[in-house]
Amino acid sequence: MRRYLMAGNWKMHKTIAEAVELATAVRAGLETSPPHLDVVVCPPFTALQAVAQVLKGSRIALGAQDTHWENQGAYTGEVSPVMLRDVGCTFVILGHSERRQLFGETDDDVGDKARAAVAHGLTPLICVGETLLERESGRTLGVVERQVEQALRHLGATEASRIVISYEPVWAIGTGHAATPEQAQVVQAFIRKLVATSHGDSVAAPLRVLYGGSVKPDNIGALMAQSDIDGALVGGACLQARSFLDIIHFPGA
Ligand code: PGA
Repeated sequence: MRRYLMAGNWKMHKTIAEAVELATAVRAGLETSPPHLDVVVCPPFTALQAVAQVLKGSRIALGAQDTHWENQGAYTGEVSPVMLRDVGCTFVILGHSERRQLFGETDDDVGDKARAAVAHGLTPLICVGETLLERESGRTLGVVERQVEQALRHLGATEASRIVISYEPVWAIGTGHAATPEQAQVVQAFIRKLVATSHGDSVAAPLRVLYGGSVKPDNIGALMAQSDIDGALVGGACLQARSFLDIIHFPGA
């Protein structure tokens, strides 16, 4: 009943020309063999407008990598959800561990951003996940519980039904060491249970829970075979059209 979603997080990569080239290649690859799933690409802010032009009329959605929670104001360096809608975004990544760890983003911030995103018709792709230290000290589920609760705390059932959650163990991001399908499944089923408790089964059952962290063409099939993995948030492997397309067209897709 859940439609899979494959998202590419381009992070701080690609000039405008490079972004147009990558988006063009991804679009071309999906036109010849459209998969039965949703696809979103999240370029850096500077390339959003150019990529929006490339994607126009295609089935690929455009996402940003962050948003502020206010519509406008004296917030130097920030970009608002109104601006993201204006440029053509329908998705926004929130609470990525790189933002939490490197830029001091808090659980509170993520909750405020999620509320603002949904209010403006953006689908927030909310990232949660534990560090290696937290996993090794048995705190994985506790950390994820806190992050999910805080991220959803301003959302009623109707708003929560418009979000996507991505489980991204910090130790798996950019390391080449993805979580095993079984490790991911345990946490992702737990996330769905948390949402069922806080917002009801009618929100939790259709909720898409993605996995992120060293997803590659050769491990995506086994990950997607798990019952609570509804797609992937891909970093490094989405920077080349070929590998992103291979992930989208995973065996069994
Ligand atoms: P990775 O990044 O695929 O390069 O590990 C995933 C992410 O940060 O979303």
